[in-house]
Amino acid sequence: MSSTVVAIDGPAGAGKSSVAKALAARMNFVHINTGSLYRAIAYALLQMNVAPENITPEDLEHISLAFDGARLLLNGVDPGENLRAPECAAGASAVAKIPFVREFLLPVQRSSADGQWIVMEGRDIGTVIFPDAKVKIFLTASAAVRAGRRLAQGECAPGATLESIQKEIEARDLQDSTRATAPLKAADDAVVVDCSDLSLEETVDAIAAVIKQKNC
Ligand code: DC
Repeated sequence: MSSTVVAIDGPAGAGKSSVAKALAARMNFVHINTGSLYRAIAYALLQMNVAPENITPEDLEHISLAFDGARLLLNGVDPGENLRAPECAAGASAVAKIPFVREFLLPVQRSSADGQWIVMEGRDIGTVIFPDAKVKIFLTASAAVRAGRRLAQGECAPGATLESIQKEIEARDLQDSTRATAPLKAADDAVVVDCSDLSLEETVDAIAAVIKQKNC
């Protein structure tokens, strides 16, 4: 039996979070953002005074992560907006490359489904976490469009320009898609949705149509 999961993978800045959130609200599914797990580890390491690249399996013994519905709890507490800090984004990217970290997070992600319908966004949901997901979407947009959206959101360093952000995005894409562990790529059976020229609503419509088509 396949998992009752809509997996939404894709590069940073494609709009996964907004789309996954809106889709979950429309379908009445639970929205799970897996990037927050990597960010929460980075946040916990900051508090433990451990540099992300120096993380050891023992450090993970002090970190417990669980989803209470859509809400992530780090050692029993909701870390909230703290995870949006640039240090957490950078630390998340560093720990995401480490195989024992990804192994640690595997059961946390798999147990969050628990038989209910979820929309789970990330990088490796359709390929590694739920290879049997009923619906797999690879959401992407051109680097130029993603740079523009990031600039508009203001989630960038002071002085950043459209060009500098686009370069950074292209470098991150290359790093994410060529890393040895769980590289960012569309699953063979994923439907690729390029939302460069679509509004949020049009993107949600497109994914809802895929869900309908699959008779879910
Ligand atoms: O989507 P985000 O920006 O919150 O992700 C934070 C980091 O975690 C990003 O560098 C990619 C990584 N990540 C991952 O490797 N696998 C996932 N399933 C989700 C996020």
